[in-house]
Amino acid sequence: MCEMSGVLRLPEPDFLPDKEINFLELIELRASRRQYTAEALTVQELSYLLWCTQGVKMVCEDGRTLRNVPSAAALHPLQTLLCLRNVEDVPAGVYRFLPVEHALKRLTLSEGASEGVLAAFEQQEMVRQSAVLFLWEADILRGIRTYGRKVYAYVYIDAGHIGQNLYLTAQALGIGACALGCFDESALHRALMLDGEERKIVHAACVGRT
Ligand SMILES: Cc1cc2nc3c(=O)[nH]c(=O)nc-3n(C[C@H](O)[C@H](O)[C@H](O)COP(=O)(O)O)c2cc1C
Repeated sequence: MCEMSGVLRLPEPDFLPDKEINFLELIELRASRRQYTAEALTVQELSYLLWCTQGVKMVCEDGRTLRNVPSAAALHPLQTLLCLRNVEDVPAGVYRFLPVEHALKRLTLSEGASEGVLAAFEQQEMVRQSAVLFLWEADILRGIRTYGRKVYAYVYIDAGHIGQNLYLTAQALGIGACALGCFDESALHRALMLDGEERKIVHAACVGRT
């Protein structure tokens, strides 16, 4: 993995190993898994999860993107934040995924931001065992310009598609994943310095080796 001005390029999606998958088996074996070992994920696995949940296949002339998940009018008003805790070769911390560059940018937050993020999921023990916590941040203003109030529904629908792809990708990789809808919103937004109105976390999930 190469680092340039605080941006970590992830392994190229073109070189990720394809998987021989029985489709029905994949669908039927998907389940929420809430117990993880202390074994780290590889950066290839992280790259694969990000590619399948938000990977950009094409940038259109007007700047919109076509990705591996659908989004109303291809607006993609969600961004992926990651609280990385146990991934080989990547320092722990809070990152933003840059989908066009397929790269990670470390966020400059207050000291103890990662702890603040984890504390927002206090009731859910598996979060502290997990290797990566995915957080999906909605940019409400961006959506409102196109959809008006409908954006409040669309960001959750988009989050559902992303979440399902995360489950299926984790299943294909043989690692565990669990969606997380239950968290202390105010504490989470404080830790991430989001206003909780125009920019808010609408969904989350954790992954780890089982
Ligand atoms: C939107 C959403 C939010 C969820 N939130 C949580 C959560 O906060 N904690 C948790 O343990 N599971 C959570 N889950 C997982 C569900 O509990 C799980 O999907 C359900 O029990 C069915 O089990 P399965 O996923 O193994 O089929 C959530 C699932 C979804 C779709």
